[in-house]
Amino acid sequence: MRRIAIFISGEGSNALKMLDEYSSSQTIDVALVYSSKHNLKVQNACKEKGVEFHFLTWNLKTQEDILGLCIKKDISWVVLAGFLKLIPESFIDSFPNKIVNIHPALLPKFGGKGMYGMRVHEAVIASKSSESGISIHFVNGAYDEGQIIAQFKVGLEPNETPETLSLKIRTLEHMYFSETVVQLVQGNL
Ligand code: GRF
Repeated sequence: MRRIAIFISGEGSNALKMLDEYSSSQTIDVALVYSSKHNLKVQNACKEKGVEFHFLTWNLKTQEDILGLCIKKDISWVVLAGFLKLIPESFIDSFPNKIVNIHPALLPKFGGKGMYGMRVHEAVIASKSSESGISIHFVNGAYDEGQIIAQFKVGLEPNETPETLSLKIRTLEHMYFSETVVQLVQGNL
């Protein structure tokens, strides 16, 4: 069993999907969920599944506390599922090539600081791209610049809006993110 930590900052729909899928997994044990915002839904899901949940505002002190927690809990992989804060070097050095992020577009385009949520889908549509998708990648010291592990694509319709695209992307994330993490921790990717 590989013990993973999931970090979130938003709604947590990917985290909920993972909590559900991994509760019967022979490969992955979710040892903790950390949220940088209040999130009652994910907190309750964790309680129901017996998973430790931590809500702490992200700052220099709590970064150290969370790193300490991950080390103490013997975490081997950290999964960023909609986590908006920059992971500090000390964290990356403690988990080299073991921190994974999901981005709601096809990197290396449409990434970087400030590129999250609807802004990403607005930029994709403004660029007249015929497709978008999701990128699952390793985390390094710069937003969205770590090595890409896997990408999954979806076509854009002529009348696509940021809202319709965001629904398509969310569906893609729920279809592929948790399974990609399984393949990754098993050493298949
Ligand atoms: C996802 O679109 C993900 O790609 C991005 O943040 C969003 C998180 O959604 N990094 P949720 O919080 O899992 O619902």
